[in-house]
Amino acid sequence: MKYYPAVAGFFLKKMNKFNFKGRDIIDINDFSKEELLFILKMAKKFDPEYVKSDRSNYTIAQGKIAGLLFFEQSTRTEQSFRSAAQKIGMGIIGFNDPQSTSIHKGESFPDTIRIMDSYADCLIIRHPKGGAAKDAAEVAAIPVINAGDGPNQHPTQTILDLYTIQKVAGKLEGITVALMGDLKYGRTVHALSIALSHFNVKQIFISHPSLAMPQEYLNILKTRNRKYEVWEKLSMDLEGVDFLYQTRVQKERFANLNEYKKIKDLFILDKSFKKYLDRGVKLMHPLPRVNEIDPELDAHPNAIYFQQARNGLYIREALLALVLGRL
Ligand code: CP
Repeated sequence: MKYYPAVAGFFLKKMNKFNFKGRDIIDINDFSKEELLFILKMAKKFDPEYVKSDRSNYTIAQGKIAGLLFFEQSTRTEQSFRSAAQKIGMGIIGFNDPQSTSIHKGESFPDTIRIMDSYADCLIIRHPKGGAAKDAAEVAAIPVINAGDGPNQHPTQTILDLYTIQKVAGKLEGITVALMGDLKYGRTVHALSIALSHFNVKQIFISHPSLAMPQEYLNILKTRNRKYEVWEKLSMDLEGVDFLYQTRVQKERFANLNEYKKIKDLFILDKSFKKYLDRGVKLMHPLPRVNEIDPELDAHPNAIYFQQARNGLYIREALLALVLGRL
């Protein structure tokens, strides 16, 4: 069937009961359950598993410019945003090495944001400092998307994690999700725990006590009357666990390297984990991994971390189109 972008655009706007135009995407706490479900629904429009025909999405945001400001290294987030922006017709400006910009000459962070604000239609920012995305949003007039701010938040990762769980399980209610590894510093597990707390999901936190989930996140679960358990080691019996979300112990978050070395190799999943994958446990990881998942597990259909990373593309296409008011 021939695709008519103007007609499709009219119906897509009709379906958009939430107005995301001009909105900043900074913190997962800024989104209601209904808004999160709406974003997941919109992302399906960009996912070839749901939309079989070529929808020629390149017309959606034609003429708009994405400004990518990566003050910290990234593979998935930066490249998937680059891809997502281009797939919906946007041009791209920005940097991933701040030292190649006038920051090197002493230009301030707010001035850098002001300048990029005048050249782009939305800004996508990754920064090692928690709160940097919010600071940028206070200066910029255009929408700002947080692509990870230090140990604080990485909301587009959280939304793609939710999307992956929903896509694989077919639901977000009545499941059990175990989060493992660095639960103290891991921004992905903090935000995912908050997002999952909107749903009837049992959460299991598996870590060394020194990297335990901070109490503030457990308090959110208590307040919302959600079930959770805290484990100090990976139980040999993962009975009832639908998803295990493994994370990297992040060297860059430790002030004391000796502390990092003592902990870094605990909770590694070697090839013996295959028996749990065979039993149906789905293994997720935000990536990058170092050694915490044996690559021999990669080929198993229940090792879904590369599928998870690919889903980031559809979430980011949807979010860009939404904040630009084109969806
Ligand atoms: N998951 C994630 O944010 O990966 P990158 O650091 O490579 O973007």
